[in-house]
Amino acid sequence: MNHKILSVFDLEGKDLEKFLEKYGDIFEPKYVDLEYYKLYYLGKFDHDRLIFEYMAQTYEIDKVLYPGSFIHITPSFDFENVTYVDIYPNIEDFFSDEDVLKYIELHKNYQSPTTICYKEISYVNLEGQYDLIISSNAGSVSIDCKKNLKNGGYLLVNNGHSDADNAFADDAYEYLGYFKFNINKDHVQFILDNTSYKSSDFCLFRKL
Ligand SMILES: C[S@@+](CC[C@H](N)C(=O)[O-])C[C@H]1O[C@@H](n2cnc3c(N)ncnc32)[C@H](O)[C@@H]1O
Repeated sequence: MNHKILSVFDLEGKDLEKFLEKYGDIFEPKYVDLEYYKLYYLGKFDHDRLIFEYMAQTYEIDKVLYPGSFIHITPSFDFENVTYVDIYPNIEDFFSDEDVLKYIELHKNYQSPTTICYKEISYVNLEGQYDLIISSNAGSVSIDCKKNLKNGGYLLVNNGHSDADNAFADDAYEYLGYFKFNINKDHVQFILDNTSYKSSDFCLFRKL
């Protein structure tokens, strides 16, 4: 992975003007494409990949669900079968773009074919069950998608929208621990913990 991709949050002057002219707004873009993904995610958030990599290497995970994913395709670099769900308009165009699929092919960590499902619907109305659900800054996924997590399946959740708090309060979830980055955010450690640890970092739960 290229760690030197410039973040949209570092753009200035003409470069920022060009970005705004093309996408309209950083947080509410009028449309999205692979360039937007690179500027928005890889410039700023690409350390999430280390967590997905750890999860894929440590646990038996087949099917992954990412409710409120927006265009955060990073899980597909480490998981073969990911279902992305978001109500953002035209998300299906992004996920079927040849450039996006090629980009995943170039960066993935496994040999088998990649399966990507994308649904432009509310995650409240989902069917099916998954081995891992990712809840990242997208509302009360741990509550609304609990039925979509297999018993024994994993919930990877941050507290951007207080969803880790929701999981801590729910007896259906067993808290396993949290992920801790080093100062440069180029290494992540999983801290086994059986007490409540609340932060904006990702926490890991298992559904009982
Ligand atoms: C702040 S973004 C987070 C994107 C990504 N998960 C991340 O962490 O970078 C929140 C996303 O959740 C989506 N969202 C919120 N409520 C939703 C719902 N009920 N069903 C599907 N998507 C939803 C929004 O459309 C938005 O794209």
